[in-house]
Amino acid sequence: MMKKFEYWVLRLIKFSIICLFIFVPSTSADEGSFVSIACCAESNYTDSRNISWISDFNQFPNTTGCHTRVPSKADYSGYNRSRVFYQNSNQKRCYKLSTKKGEDYLIRATFLFGHIWSSSFSVSVGVTPIGVVDSSEDSAVVEGIFRATEDNTYLCLVYGKGTPYISEVELRPLQGLKYYLEDFPSSVLKLVTRNSFAITKDDIRYPYDTSDRIWKSHSSADPGTGTYHISQPNVSISGNATASPPLQVLQTALAAPDQLLLLHNGLPTESYQYLVFLYFYEVDRTVQAGQRVFDIFLNDELKERRFDVSGNGSNYKELSFTVTANGSLNLTLVKVSGSENGPICNAYEILKVLPWRPETNKSDVEVILEVKNEVLKSNQESEVWEGWSGCPCLPVPWDGITCGSVGGYAVITVLDLSSGIQRGGFLKGQVPSSITKLAHLRVLNLSHNDFTGNIPAFLPSSLLTSVDLSFNDLWGSLPISLISLPHLDILNISCNPHVAKDIPSSFNGSTLTMGQESCSAQKASNQRIIIGAAAASGSLLLTIVVGIIFYTWRRNFLPQGNFDMKQHHMTKNLIFSLPSMDDLVMKSISIETFTLEYIEAATQRYKTLIGEGGFGSEVAVKVRSATSTQGTREFENELNLLSAIRHENLVPLLGYCCENDQEILVYPFMSNGSLQDRLYGEAAKRKILDWPTRLSIALGAARGLTHLHNFAGRCIIHRDVKSSNILLDHSMTAKVADFGFSKYAPQEGDSCASLEVRGTAGYLDPE
Ligand SMILES: *[C@@H]1O[C@H](CO)[C@@H](O)[C@H](O)[C@H]1NC(C)=O
Ligand SMILES: *[C@@H]1O[C@H](CO)[C@@H](O)[C@H](O)[C@H]1NC(C)=O
Ligand SMILES: *[C@@H]1O[C@H](CO)[C@@H](O)[C@H](O)[C@H]1NC(C)=O
Ligand SMILES: *[C@@H]1O[C@H](CO)[C@@H](O)[C@H](O)[C@H]1NC(C)=O
Ligand SMILES: *[C@@H]1O[C@H](CO)[C@@H](O)[C@H](O)[C@H]1NC(C)=O
Ligand SMILES: *[C@@H]1O[C@H](CO)[C@@H](O)[C@H](O)[C@H]1NC(C)=O
Ligand SMILES: *[C@@H]1O[C@H](CO)[C@@H](O)[C@H](O)[C@H]1NC(C)=O
Ligand SMILES: *[C@@H]1O[C@H](CO)[C@@H](O)[C@H](O)[C@H]1NC(C)=O
Ligand SMILES: *[C@@H]1O[C@H](CO)[C@@H](O)[C@H](O)[C@H]1NC(C)=O
Ligand SMILES: *[C@@H]1O[C@H](CO)[C@@H](O)[C@H](O)[C@H]1NC(C)=O
Ligand SMILES: *[C@@H]1O[C@H](CO)[C@@H](O)[C@H](O)[C@H]1NC(C)=O
Ligand SMILES: *[C@@H]1O[C@H](CO)[C@@H](O)[C@H](O)[C@H]1NC(C)=O
Repeated sequence: MMKKFEYWVLRLIKFSIICLFIFVPSTSADEGSFVSIACCAESNYTDSRNISWISDFNQFPNTTGCHTRVPSKADYSGYNRSRVFYQNSNQKRCYKLSTKKGEDYLIRATFLFGHIWSSSFSVSVGVTPIGVVDSSEDSAVVEGIFRATEDNTYLCLVYGKGTPYISEVELRPLQGLKYYLEDFPSSVLKLVTRNSFAITKDDIRYPYDTSDRIWKSHSSADPGTGTYHISQPNVSISGNATASPPLQVLQTALAAPDQLLLLHNGLPTESYQYLVFLYFYEVDRTVQAGQRVFDIFLNDELKERRFDVSGNGSNYKELSFTVTANGSLNLTLVKVSGSENGPICNAYEILKVLPWRPETNKSDVEVILEVKNEVLKSNQESEVWEGWSGCPCLPVPWDGITCGSVGGYAVITVLDLSSGIQRGGFLKGQVPSSITKLAHLRVLNLSHNDFTGNIPAFLPSSLLTSVDLSFNDLWGSLPISLISLPHLDILNISCNPHVAKDIPSSFNGSTLTMGQESCSAQKASNQRIIIGAAAASGSLLLTIVVGIIFYTWRRNFLPQGNFDMKQHHMTKNLIFSLPSMDDLVMKSISIETFTLEYIEAATQRYKTLIGEGGFGSEVAVKVRSATSTQGTREFENELNLLSAIRHENLVPLLGYCCENDQEILVYPFMSNGSLQDRLYGEAAKRKILDWPTRLSIALGAARGLTHLHNFAGRCIIHRDVKSSNILLDHSMTAKVADFGFSKYAPQEGDSCASLEVRGTAGYLDPE
């Protein structure tokens, strides 16, 4: 069974190449009011255009995923990082940007390396969704123009499918460019396209454009037939017009003898309102007023009759139109009879008009932020609060919040912080008294936490109908203000051993629960975890630590006191940056990432000691030894392969940790050790295997390998099958382990192949 296996050559992986713009060197420094966030950047830095980039670590501490593009043969000159927000119960993640109320801004978010994550999520400014990022595009840019309604504006990623990711956020004040929002002050204008006909290698942007708009250049633009470029390097605008685009954009125009057609397909097939801006500069000095006159049509509707580029005493003009379009936008400039010259155009922009959505009722926002700050004082670590950013209700509400609508504004109607919102660790400290100021709140559930202290006094104007404070450790007596709330129907105060037991008489609702019975049973449903030692298989480069975790748990067990394991791991789909990523079949198998802090605490720094955790099962932890320099490849390989595969005869991967150079894989613990232990191990481990068991182990291992060989229509070759890599679970089911050397078999068409032999001496074919 272990001797004869085919060895396949492996294929080298080609990297996909990402091309981004190469930036022009800076000549001026007027970027003082720019906000430029480089997601996951290790430090702040200044780029070649003299723009200062700040890292986002102050908004998102670095425990969340940071992805750096793996260097490839193709030199990648742009920004090379993305922040990945692993999927958890938070529905959105927001960047807080300081803005000045009433000022106009351009906001641009860049999303790189999308091919790694099969995700799709929406991007909103304030609470107005302006675009969807679909990782089928390798690099995506979403840009909008808006007028700030507050002194802070949030850019939010709203979870859709998979994990949201982001690389850069740019906020640019549009002083002097008020014209964009002149007719639509309460809208977000989503950029569809901004084109110039400049013949430059790179797009034109800051420092040429002082607001850092990016004007795409068209070195070979030819949207219609018979069009040509006219250039004039010495741009000089006559009259008192001022040009909004940089002069570089005005140097070149696209011209046509009779008709210039600019067609935009691929707009959403729904009726939307678009704003179209056109920029004209008479590039030809010999052309006088009245000599270049044309009509302008948008989707066959005449928008401007007899437009004269050099008319009214100036050789520069800007026009804007609104148009409703479905699917495509047809911009046509047609020469009028009698005009000596055909139409020209230097640049144009198409922006989609999206109404700015009202945010949550401002007083509710202020109060819920007070609540957050009060809770945070005693619950710093809880991850829940990271998702409590942006608008509490829209486009998706924060965890634990449900909203209604009053007077056109969203209002908070339900606040459910029970069990620390189901996941984030039990909440400690006082019940935040600002909760009582939530004017629209109807349901309050704080049950199953560790809240202490007195119950705060409620306002008679409260609309609360249901209050659940059960399973906490509150003190004192029930405040009359709470019991006598006019709308209160359900009040549950049970399982708070220190609340005064006198039954209040003024309660008018239907259900008052105060009992202190069967409280301990409920609390004991939590788990306790003990870490012990055992053995598992590992490649030579790995040291092994095994944790056994039992189902008996008490909180506050560790010396750290308030260190709560629950908040230190989260579920996510596989995301990992590896050269062989394009080789990987993505499957939505749930792999968890664990923080190093968590694993070290759970295993007590890899000792055979008692700890606590939330796995709820026995696990084995494989750690790459600190002294090993070569294990990374095996680690990544194993992570890659195992995260896509599940089979009853293969050891599944539960999660991993990759932090501070530590690479750790977490598997279920196999209580019967390895086949090698059984056959040749120490006397204590060696056991006589009866024939049915031997047969079932052999068959199981073979089934596991067969699954590998047939996996996803491709073949995975284990390359290190030996008795120590066949593990036995509690029911003696064989499970193949250790995929550090495994590879996909080459396919037809694979060019480069490696003939490298891997494995363990003694188990390799002599040839
Ligand atoms: C970059 O900006 C700084 C100050 O903002 C200025 O002193 C410096 O000259 C600028 N460098 C270039 C190349 O423009
Ligand atoms: C993450 O934070 C730790 C300490 O908080 C620091 O040592 C480490 O360098 C940080 N990692 C990155 C990528 O900045
Ligand atoms: C980066 O700049 C921001 C804003 O100026 C500052 O708050 C932060 O401390 C800086 N970070 C580093 C690592 O210097
Ligand atoms: C990412 O870019 C930084 C700065 O340009 C560079 O120092 C670093 O080596 C790059 N990282 C990779 C993995 O290419
Ligand atoms: C640019 O044009 C202006 C106005 O036509 C003229 O005065 C100036 O001499 C020109 N400059 C160059 C370098 O051609
Ligand atoms: C210059 O601007 C003034 C005021 O905006 C206007 O009245 C005048 O007609 C303009 N002159 C030309 C040549 O366009
Ligand atoms: C938009 O166009 C699509 C097909 O091109 C059509 O099915 C749809 O009804 C149109 N929508 C509106 C609102 O006109
Ligand atoms: C665009 O509009 C022009 C003028 O209205 C018309 O002749 C042409 O057929 C239209 N083209 C498309 C593709 O709709
Ligand atoms: C010239 O000015 C007149 C009157 O102000 C205006 O109606 C016309 O649209 C302007 N023409 C151009 C080409 O701007
Ligand atoms: C928000 O709610 C408060 C309290 O009900 C109310 O006084 C205020 O008018 C509301 N604000 C808006 C903008 O609806
Ligand atoms: C409060 O939340 C807990 C846990 O989610 C739930 O069991 C309980 O029914 C809720 N209380 C009320 C009154 O709905
Ligand atoms: C508290 O009591 C109410 C009313 O009986 C009940 O609906 C709710 O589930 C109870 N809460 C918990 C946490 O059991």
